[in-house]
Amino acid sequence: MCGIVGYIGQQDAKEILLKGLEKLEYRGYDSAGIAVLNESGAHVFKEKGRIAILRETVDESVQAPVGIGHTRWATHGEPSRVNAHPHQSTSARFTLVHNGVIENYSQLIREHLQGVTLKSDTDTEVIVQLIEKKVDTGLTVEEAFRGTLAELKGSYAIALLDEQNKDVIYVGKNKSPLLVGLGDNFNVVASDAMAMLQVTDQYVELMDKEMVLVSKQEVTIKNLQGEVMERAPYTAELDASDIEKGTYPHYMLKEIDEQPLVIRRLVQKYQDDNGTLTIEQDILDAMNDADRIYIVAAGTSYHAGLVGKQLIEKVASIPVEVHVASEFSYNMPILSKNPLFIFISQSGETADSRSVLVQVKELGYKALTITNVPGSTLSREADYTLLLHAGPEIAVASTKAYTAQIAVLAILAAVTAESRGLTVEFDLVKELGIVANSMETLVDAKEEMEQIAREYLSTTRNCFFIGRAVDYYVGLEGSLKLKEISYIQAEGFAGGELKHGTIALIEKGTPVIALATVEHVNLSIRGNVKEVAARGANPCVIALKGLEEEDDRYVLPEVHPALTPLVSVVPLQLISYYAALHRGCDVDKPRNLAKSVTVE
Ligand code: F6R
Repeated sequence: MCGIVGYIGQQDAKEILLKGLEKLEYRGYDSAGIAVLNESGAHVFKEKGRIAILRETVDESVQAPVGIGHTRWATHGEPSRVNAHPHQSTSARFTLVHNGVIENYSQLIREHLQGVTLKSDTDTEVIVQLIEKKVDTGLTVEEAFRGTLAELKGSYAIALLDEQNKDVIYVGKNKSPLLVGLGDNFNVVASDAMAMLQVTDQYVELMDKEMVLVSKQEVTIKNLQGEVMERAPYTAELDASDIEKGTYPHYMLKEIDEQPLVIRRLVQKYQDDNGTLTIEQDILDAMNDADRIYIVAAGTSYHAGLVGKQLIEKVASIPVEVHVASEFSYNMPILSKNPLFIFISQSGETADSRSVLVQVKELGYKALTITNVPGSTLSREADYTLLLHAGPEIAVASTKAYTAQIAVLAILAAVTAESRGLTVEFDLVKELGIVANSMETLVDAKEEMEQIAREYLSTTRNCFFIGRAVDYYVGLEGSLKLKEISYIQAEGFAGGELKHGTIALIEKGTPVIALATVEHVNLSIRGNVKEVAARGANPCVIALKGLEEEDDRYVLPEVHPALTPLVSVVPLQLISYYAALHRGCDVDKPRNLAKSVTVE
């Protein structure tokens, strides 16, 4: 969701900025722009739509060694050229890009910008106008920048250019992600390290309410009181090839295929030298001190949390509640005496989850983040982190992060159980190995999955997913995958709930994808399949080997009963992928969606 890049150095900035923005495309956006600064002033190029469109409008003859760029995901004001960033102050002296939401922008207009004609509908333009206003009263640009940041309420990552000083990019951050990358005689700014990996792997993290003066040779971090803050750089351990599609037509397909490898890598990362699964003692102590665990997450990560609840309760015997992050902050349940919070987030940047984390920390509770992104906001601000080691997930629809989240939760549950003296009745290392092998079989079954998608989903306007016990949770994830990338209205239901209302929606030919991987509810889910079939539905049963029946559409390789979601989700991911493809949808960048949802 929105992305920022900046460059100051000796080369021409345009191509570096555009390439950087292309690397941020996966986050989701609806318009894009860059501004570069040279002797003749600021040159702004911006367009609604894809970066490819922006590229066509950029004047190749303009050469400039400093610039900023932005991809926008509209919040205030429709997607349009006018609302696209960069925005300029009235005199055009200042040019600014912003990621985040300024909550008090109307108040700022009322109190400080009466008489200023705003060109756009954005909250962002208010910031650049405010800076110019302050400079007009005699403040230096740095003072005006700091003073403006101090007045903003909400989230922001900001980069500012001053036409009268080509030697610096002013940067500020609160809640929204932003990094400064270090180079030899150049420096860069980026929402995430992937954007600038082309030029450097050395980065400096910024904390909330800090500003930075970025010149080509120096990076000076200050707090909003103007005091200089020291910060050591770190090396971004990303492999540039991880973020390329290679020979795949879409990132989503590549990421689905990577799942066996991710599970194997995860097992290795969590094994000690003796091959025993291990988790930091501090985390185990926190698990064991807790009388109840609260899992907080959004979307796919929430669905992984539902599966995690079952694993932790069954294997480690600790009660677990799972909450949707966006509801939790406004509707906090009565908490137990000694809660432990687990935040699950692929990106580690989801604003809804982060706002709960802030609340939880204010209340003095401990928090563990399970994330794919080391150094992400949720990881930094929690007491403990467990990493997913899934490699960058670029497609908007989450696939390998979901299975990695479940695998990490399984490892956490098993290692915690052992630390409590409980017997874990299966060898998790061995069972995850079997899962990885089974996943290989499933990702190799693409033709079959494509056929299922063609047969059931090519013309339908809706689709239902049903399951009982853990299959219900996987069905929720399957329905989310299908709706987000194919735009087919898809809903997941507990098999037993159908007759309480939903069955009214079943018509002749309605596809109903049913999961049957749980032995003790197999007969019941079979009953539900019969109920919908009797009303004209077109059922597609995906069953675990050993539980299959004659008319089942696909039989999953057998894995340990505690780990079935790791395999049953794979056909659902592939079926969604092919359904979206058949319908001509933009699989990796579905409409209206962003990869990293950094606004509440
Ligand atoms: C769906 C999807 C989203 C995310 C959700 C949370 O495919 O990707 O539902 O799961 O926005 O994001 P993270 O996990 O980054 O907190």
